[in-house]
Amino acid sequence: MNILVTGGAGFIGSNFLNLLVPRHPEHRFVNVDKLTYAANLSNLEGTAGRPNYALERVDIVDGAAVDDLFARTKPNMVVHFAAESHVDRSIHAPGTFIETNITGTFRLLEAFRALPKDQAVLFHHVSTDEVYGSLGPTGAFTEETPYDPSSPYSASKASSDHLVRAYHRTYGLPVKITNCSNNYGPYQFPEKLIPLMILNAIEGKRLPVYGKGENVRDWLYVDDHCEAIWTVIQKGAAGETYNIGGRSEKTNLEVVHAICELVASETGKPIRELLDLIHYVPDRPGHDLRYAIDPTKVMRECGFSPKESFETGLRKTVRFYLEHDRWVRDVRSGDYLAWIDKNYSRR
Ligand code: NAD
Ligand code: DAU
Repeated sequence: MNILVTGGAGFIGSNFLNLLVPRHPEHRFVNVDKLTYAANLSNLEGTAGRPNYALERVDIVDGAAVDDLFARTKPNMVVHFAAESHVDRSIHAPGTFIETNITGTFRLLEAFRALPKDQAVLFHHVSTDEVYGSLGPTGAFTEETPYDPSSPYSASKASSDHLVRAYHRTYGLPVKITNCSNNYGPYQFPEKLIPLMILNAIEGKRLPVYGKGENVRDWLYVDDHCEAIWTVIQKGAAGETYNIGGRSEKTNLEVVHAICELVASETGKPIRELLDLIHYVPDRPGHDLRYAIDPTKVMRECGFSPKESFETGLRKTVRFYLEHDRWVRDVRSGDYLAWIDKNYSRR
């Protein structure tokens, strides 16, 4: 099988390829990535020297480039991770989110639609629980929860989900969609809460918590998300949506406290010194209060269950950032620093 993995140099895509390329020599994996600020080819340690892996630097918004890629690589399957993924960036500059997340998905769907029917096995779309909007203090998102996105990021992901479903209903394309909760783990770009807080704590910098730190996210270790996607690809039904999560809700303040405790225990820094770095900053506009996934369907129909607890996964993650200072230095150069300087310098 020829499998195109879009966004395979980003956080989740690279973890997906690191797991699956060595395990499945019978499949050929092509990493299709524009290599934006969020990509890093040194994430892809697990693919090194593997003959069943190749990289194609392609912008999925460029329809001619996508068509040419499909003609050359003859895919049977697309696993679509590529996206602009950071909510705060989407608030500052929504344009690329509309282009990549909506138009890019459309270009891929059009190229997939043009494949011979016996070649086109599956278009798997990787999406987010943020399409459902915000929960109050109780309840959880199911696959029937109405879409109600709050940010330009989540609205663009919701649009892409609708396009994927429409291509199934209208053209009969074999598609599956997974909507997952917040991921954390190795190789996550340090603009997202967990790696940002780990690195700031290690470096003795302020830990900027939005509002009162009471917002709740439902955390899943990245390998568990990747295994869930592969399980849905194998066992899920075409045309269906599966919510993925590990029932691990935490307030942001709980997450930051847990990080301070782990950094203290791994480095010997006094815990009080780390907790004193917590600094409350103005809230994110349109900040969703709470996300929580009901994973019953993917557990029952596909047999998925997460292996990592928040405690074990977070310790692995803290160790990853402590042991990869060269990786951290590299991802913090260039565009990332310019963006951080421009948008985060006054808080
Ligand atoms: P990321 O920002 O770390 O990586 C995105 C990747 O997509 C990068 O390698 C980037 O270069 C590539 N890309 C961006 N624009 C592109 C374009 N125009 N053409 C080709 N490649 C392009 O993102 P991530 O956190 O790994 O998320 C991957 C997917 O999973 C996204 O679709 C996201 O919506 C979804 N998701 C993420 C989370 C999470 O917690 N991070 C949770 C649920 C779902
Ligand atoms: O739920 C899935 C989504 O999770 C994915 O679709 C997105 O791609 C991913 O970025 C993530 O979105 P969030 O907005 O939930 O993640 P982020 O790490 O940006 O923020 C997590 C929480 O922490 C959120 O409530 C905002 C808060 N936060 C974030 C940052 C960056 C802070 O308090 N301070 C910060 O500096």
